[in-house]
Amino acid sequence: MTRLANKVAIITGAGSGQGAAEARLFAAEGARVAVTDVNEEAARAVAQEIGEAAIAVRLDVTNETDWRKAVDATIAAFGKVDVLVNNAGVYKPRPIQQTDRALLDLHYNVNVVGTFLGMQAVREVMRDGGGGAIVNIASGAGTKGFPGMIAYSGSKFMVRGISRCAAIDLAPDKIRVNLVLPGIIDTPMLAENPPEILAAFPTLPPAQRLGTVDEIAEAVLFLASDAASYVMGAELSVCGGLMA
Ligand SMILES: NC(=O)c1ccc[n+]([C@@H]2O[C@H](COP(=O)([O-])OP(=O)(O)OC[C@H]3O[C@@H](n4cnc5c(N)ncnc54)[C@H](O)[C@@H]3O)[C@@H](O)[C@H]2O)c1
Repeated sequence: MTRLANKVAIITGAGSGQGAAEARLFAAEGARVAVTDVNEEAARAVAQEIGEAAIAVRLDVTNETDWRKAVDATIAAFGKVDVLVNNAGVYKPRPIQQTDRALLDLHYNVNVVGTFLGMQAVREVMRDGGGGAIVNIASGAGTKGFPGMIAYSGSKFMVRGISRCAAIDLAPDKIRVNLVLPGIIDTPMLAENPPEILAAFPTLPPAQRLGTVDEIAEAVLFLASDAASYVMGAELSVCGGLMA
């Protein structure tokens, strides 16, 4: 399969869950992939499994120096950057009564600042290479309130806002910016839910099951590929009807 033939992609948070699935699918579709994560060991394991189409890079998305190194390492290995998936995220659900400044800052720094720094880090190299595609991962929780998600939901609303603005700003450079909004996806992140949040949470979505990482990866792949050449500033919900 060749839906990403000759493309070079950087994926953040790719040592686990959705990011790892995206790295595997992208490579299977012909891309070369920088598998990045703050957890270097996890990134290395995914890159090793993929083989020579992948490199592993330690990247804390909140750190500008890390971003420069990751872009440099990708160019050194593969010559260019065509695609960035800002997938890394944190989710520590607590109601406002248990949310302090530090918890708010954590979500803001990783989910929002990390996404912003990623777009900043790749935009010039993409522009100079003739264009590119950025896919930012928000959430259904970035479209409405859910119990216990004040910090997470607020950060994902912001991811949507900065992505839509970047889509407009970067269009003249032939860089497409789009969003995927996952619903409830079966990844290690779900283990962050304390029992009281689970009890207050809506039951299964209309699909009557959780989503899989592969179902998210397919949506990200579409937006990253040339098949989405006229899709800009769009939001693709992949949520089994949760947000319907
Ligand atoms: N799982 C869900 O139900 C769900 C729903 C909606 C949105 N999302 C979003 O999907 C994305 C992927 O999450 P997942 O479900 O695969 O979770 P996950 O916990 O399996 O993976 C998250 C990855 O992000 C990495 N990470 C955390 N902080 C980082 C940092 N500062 N720098 C770089 N990497 C960092 C972690 O090491 C981990 O590998 C996240 O943005 C998340 O908010 C998840």
